[in-house]
Parts: sequence; structure tokens; C-alpha cells
Amino acid sequence: MKILVTGGTGYIGSHTIVELLKAGFDVCTIDNFDNSYPSVLENLNKITGTQIEFDEVDIRDKAALKKYFQSKSGIDAVIHFAANKAVGESVALPLKYYENNVGGTINLLEAMQEAGINNIVFSSSCTVYGEANPPVDEYTAILPATSPYGNTKQICEEILMDQTRASDIKVVSLRYFNPVGAHESALIGELPIGVPNNLVPFITQTAIGKREFLTVFGNDYPTPDGTCIRDYIHVVDLAIAHVAAINYLANKKYRDAFSVFNLGTGNGNSVLEVIQTFEAVTGEKLAYKIGGRRAGDVVQIYASCDKALKELGWKTERSLEECMRSSWKWEQHLQSMGNK
Ligand SMILES: NC(=O)c1ccc[n+]([C@@H]2O[C@H](COP(=O)([O-])OP(=O)(O)OC[C@H]3O[C@@H](n4cnc5c(N)ncnc54)[C@H](O)[C@@H]3O)[C@@H](O)[C@H]2O)c1
Repeated sequence: MKILVTGGTGYIGSHTIVELLKAGFDVCTIDNFDNSYPSVLENLNKITGTQIEFDEVDIRDKAALKKYFQSKSGIDAVIHFAANKAVGESVALPLKYYENNVGGTINLLEAMQEAGINNIVFSSSCTVYGEANPPVDEYTAILPATSPYGNTKQICEEILMDQTRASDIKVVSLRYFNPVGAHESALIGELPIGVPNNLVPFITQTAIGKREFLTVFGNDYPTPDGTCIRDYIHVVDLAIAHVAAINYLANKKYRDAFSVFNLGTGNGNSVLEVIQTFEAVTGEKLAYKIGGRRAGDVVQIYASCDKALKELGWKTERSLEECMRSSWKWEQHLQSMGNK
């Protein structure tokens, strides 16, 4: 099978390409380098020993996307990562997010329909659940989104669901919890632009000296140590889940044309536990301060991943220690490259 990966030079897309090739799939990929660099392709070539089939295409450009599908033959399924993902930026620039994340997905679906491609795996997010009682399963009610970014994920899921009713398309929507870590080679990883919003890049940037200290947003939450709890999933485990989702579609294992799966570890870790784990595995002492609560943070969320285990035959294999070790190795690699 040949899989088109949109957003393939991004964080999760690049790791997924590695796992798809490892599993024997043919892969082609597109990106517009809005949040990634062409050098990722060279590093993917090094890791996989394969020349990655890449075209620079912007999914907002409907004509270019249709032309792309006309020029490629044999694509059996699409994994759709291409989107903007900064929650804060989405509040300031909602139209950018609706145009790219929603408009881009509509363009993609139209181009797929025209090309007769009926299988898609979509990148969704646990933000759709808002504040819910963990462990959160796929039957937990969806709450109104708290940001335009979160709303684009909800809208796209609805569009995809509607499209399954109107056509032969089959959809797997994967709701990621908190992806962290990097490939063991340290040749690919997350490239946060500007000040990171997420805990782990902030930890590694502080430890390497790019940031003076880390602020822990609140230690008075109703959790065992007072800090927020999240479900941190290693990006390689996440990438492998996409291979499982493609196999699920290919082997027609679905009961419904629209299937949703949570992708997490099933465990929650507090901010302080993550910091302690980072310090323990790297031997680095982290400078951090306790600050006030951050607006919009849910107290605790972690996944129930029973459905993914039962239907996709997938579960995580990598520990929080491994997440911290690989994130640190990646940060050190970035520094050695002059952060390019
Ligand atoms: N990383 C997370 O914490 C997280 C959590 C939940 C969901 N997601 C979703 O997973 C997907 C991948 O996230 P990521 O962390 O790899 O992000 P990323 O920014 O690293 O990767 C996205 C890639 O898409 C590309 N892209 C953006 N707009 C494009 C366009 N118009 N045309 C072509 N390419 C375009 C970017 O250049 C980038 O390479 C996104 O849809 C994101 O919303 C991510």
C-alpha cells in the first residue's frame, strides 16, 4: 500500500513516516514548511536509508492539491497531519486556523474524492474532552472547545463524519493526548517555534540554558502533589499507532465508517513527577519556580486506551523515562547543530 502523509516534515508526521517505511508501506509526503524545515527530509533519508518522495504543496491551495493527486498514482490512504497547532496563536489569529485546519481538510477531502481515495487517518486531540473525569474513553461527551484550535479539531471530525455518510470514505480519527520524546537517533524531534507552550520542550530548553527557569503553573490543584496531571505519550508509540490505524482500514476491521481512538498511555503524570523523572534520567538539576495557575488548564486528564488495544491491537511500549531521555538527547542535538 502507498500512503500519502500530509505535514510529513512535522514532528509527528516525520516519526510516522519512519514507522510506515519500517512496516513495509510505500510513502509519499507533502508539506509547505510552515512549521518545519527541508533538512528533516535529509534526516529521514538517513534514518530510513530511503529517498523520501516529497513535494512542496500547500493544502490551502486547492488547485495545487488536485494537481498533486492527478500526478501521483497508487495512493491508497492518507494520513492527515498538516495543520497549525498553537493554541494561543489560534486565539489571536482564528481565521488562520479555520482557513488552514478546516479549509485545508476540505480541500484534501475534495481532492481525495476526485482521485477515488477512500481511506483517511486524521490527527485529532484530547482537547475535545475538555475537563472530564479521567480515565477518559471515546464515549466521553465532547465539550465546547476552549480555543479556535480545539474547535478546528471538533469541526474537522464533524466534517469527516458527515462525509462518511455522503460517500464511501472511511475515517479513523486519532485523539492524541500529550506527545513527547523524539526518535532514538536524535535526528528528528519536535521543533517548537518561539517560547514553547508545552512542558517537556520547556524543561529541556531550561536545562540546556536557553531559558532561565521553568514556571510550574499552580501547585494548589486537587491532585496528590498539587500540580496538573497529563498523559505523556512517546511520539514513536504514537507513530506506530498510525501504522495500526492504516492496517485497520486496509483490513476493513471497522464497524463504522467513522472510528475514533484515544492515543495515550493510560497513565497520568503530574508536572512535578515529569520534572523529577527528567532530573533522574539525565542527572541535570532543573531550575523551576512555582507560579500561579494558567488560564484554561484542565486539572487532570489521561486516557483510557482500551478501545485502541482491543480494535487496533496497539498500546504504548515506551516509559516516561524513555520520553525524557530521548527529549534531552534531541535538545542536545539541536544545540550541537546551532538550533537549526
Ligand atoms: N503535537 C501535539 O501536541 C498534538 C496534539 C494533538 C494533535 N496534534 C495534531 O497533530 C498534527 C501534527 O502535529 P505536529 O505536532 O506534528 O505539528 P507540526 O507543526 O510539527 O507538523 C505539522 C506540519 O504540517 C505542515 N503544514 C501546516 N500547514 C500546512 C499546509 N497548509 N500545507 C502543507 N503543510 C502544512 C507544517 O509545516 C508542519 O511540518 C496536527 O494536526 C496537530 O494539530 C498535535
